[in-house]
Amino acid sequence: MTAIRIDGKAFAAKLRERVGEAAMAFAQSAGRKPGLAVVLVGDDPASQVYVGSKGKATVAANMESFTHRLGAETSQADLLALVDQLNRDDAVDGILVQLPLPDHLDEQSIIASISPDKDVDGFHVINAGRLSVGQSGFVPCTPLGCMMLLTDRLGDLSGLEAVVIGRSNIVGKPMAQLLLDANATVTIAHSRTKDLAGVVKRADIVVAAVGRPEMIGRDWLKNGATVIDVGINRLPPEPGKEKGKLVGDVAFDEASEVAGAITPVPGGVGPMTIAVLLRNTVVAAHRNAGLDAPAGL
Ligand code: GUN
Repeated sequence: MTAIRIDGKAFAAKLRERVGEAAMAFAQSAGRKPGLAVVLVGDDPASQVYVGSKGKATVAANMESFTHRLGAETSQADLLALVDQLNRDDAVDGILVQLPLPDHLDEQSIIASISPDKDVDGFHVINAGRLSVGQSGFVPCTPLGCMMLLTDRLGDLSGLEAVVIGRSNIVGKPMAQLLLDANATVTIAHSRTKDLAGVVKRADIVVAAVGRPEMIGRDWLKNGATVIDVGINRLPPEPGKEKGKLVGDVAFDEASEVAGAITPVPGGVGPMTIAVLLRNTVVAAHRNAGLDAPAGL
């Protein structure tokens, strides 16, 4: 059997188009575009690239982009003051502080300072709590994107065995919560799990978010499983090459022989993250303006 390749890039492009239409409709009712503020502290090269991409994608989706680039030496007080200013700014519907922050800054207290109603990353404890008790809030972009791909592929997830590998606050925990809300039977596995391969073998749905290149092979998977690979790992470069290949946490070619459907890396979960960020921002704009949530997002 050869697995169906789940095309996250195409799904994300369609979602961005729908978000762009919702943003245009919002502008007509509210008299202003939805706005997303992105804050970058320091000069981490990967973060620079992400922040640049987010800004361009925001503008392409008919929204206002406000990018704040601060020096690596920025103090906790100055960063808190900027977040406070963005919290009060009516043109800003969503605030994202790019992580990781430099070591001298306290990530948790910065996240806590963002208004939960503008926390389009879904990282604030209020939004984690809302997700946990089933209230509407903001859900972290990567797991929500994974969920969209899963429901598009499988429809109803009721009663399916889902194994999430990884227990981070950004992916593993919210992913498990979303699967549980969709009536799946959920296991969270991690580096201390005994017989990890045996646990994964039971799963109808595998979500891999461990950061170990090609860890999950053919023998780990149940026949026909749906595999969502959140990992983005760069292998060491081959001789004569400048950059190593990007691979996921799943050995794609092998896994494709057993799985029913699988996301590739790149082109699977990755493109969904920004698309969902834009989706969360247009939803935030509607909520903050007291308008009904846009349909079909
Ligand atoms: N760094 C890497 N991914 C993310 C993300 O989704 N949100 C934020 N704030 N920082 C990140």
